[in-house]
Amino acid sequence: MTKPRVFVTRRIPEAGLNLLQESCDVRVWEDELPPPREALLREAADAEGLLCLLSDRVDAALMDAAPQLKVISNFAVGFDNIDITAATQRGLPVGHTPGVLTETTADLAFALLMAAARRIVEAVHYVQEGRWKTWGPMLMLGQDVHGATLGIIGLGRIGQAVARRGRGFDMRVIYHGGSNEEAARAIGAERRPLDDLLAEADFISLHVPLTPETHHLIDARAFERMKPTAVLVNTARGGVVDSKALYHALKSGQIAYAALDVTDPEPIPPDDPLLTLENCLIVPHIGSATHATRSRIALIAAQNVLAGLHGERLPHCVNPEVYGAQR
Ligand code: GLV
Repeated sequence: MTKPRVFVTRRIPEAGLNLLQESCDVRVWEDELPPPREALLREAADAEGLLCLLSDRVDAALMDAAPQLKVISNFAVGFDNIDITAATQRGLPVGHTPGVLTETTADLAFALLMAAARRIVEAVHYVQEGRWKTWGPMLMLGQDVHGATLGIIGLGRIGQAVARRGRGFDMRVIYHGGSNEEAARAIGAERRPLDDLLAEADFISLHVPLTPETHHLIDARAFERMKPTAVLVNTARGGVVDSKALYHALKSGQIAYAALDVTDPEPIPPDDPLLTLENCLIVPHIGSATHATRSRIALIAAQNVLAGLHGERLPHCVNPEVYGAQR
């Protein structure tokens, strides 16, 4: 019996690849960079399964160029790179990897928050550049994390995990968005309208998916409401923040600091003005980047592919509508 063809758009941890290779004819895009559009179209043309990354645009044209496709599996929890409506219209289930990266991403969000509060990256550069001459009473003053107010925008899985970390550091936690009031109560987080949260929080951490509604949720108007000492942390998606407005807010002192794991676009171009600012710390979308978590993501992404190939319900399906009455 011929094995089903699966195209994997980059080398992923073995836990996932090995599982696929047991029963599928797997082709892996071995380059460090994503497959260019023509390569993606060509490789998907005879694939029954597509395991893609958040850097691959999977749109209606790609789906139509892959007539044998039975399943799309994203190696991520977010899925804004995939046209879900188009997939649903074509009866294609789309898989993602929720849950397994929650704590790891929350760890990074909190690491960014702490690094911004205490100006860790600036301080490291200061020492490396030989500028450390003496202990200084006014040297590298930052902000206290304990006792500060943490504003979580999007109290979903990752937002809750960041909120718990905040409580562990004796922060007061307020939130906007996310409907799990029981979880909020258990954490001790108080709900606020968005404008109130923006005005009240010392640290604002973003945990919403990128959708038409959240695109540029944090814009010039939002920055106007924030405290001049506010720190913005973004581990969600770059497009949630208007990056031009962010540059002006940081440059003019309207807010104090931004720590970003995600940018718009990604990667951030080397001449982007945000890279000229000392009060903007940017890391390359590494929220879920630990050995253990990336292996777990690979395994779930592979399990989603296999379920789709067997015509079974995906363990983690973004568009269960494709199952119609079977739901
Ligand atoms: C990473 O950003 C993810 O969505 O998993």
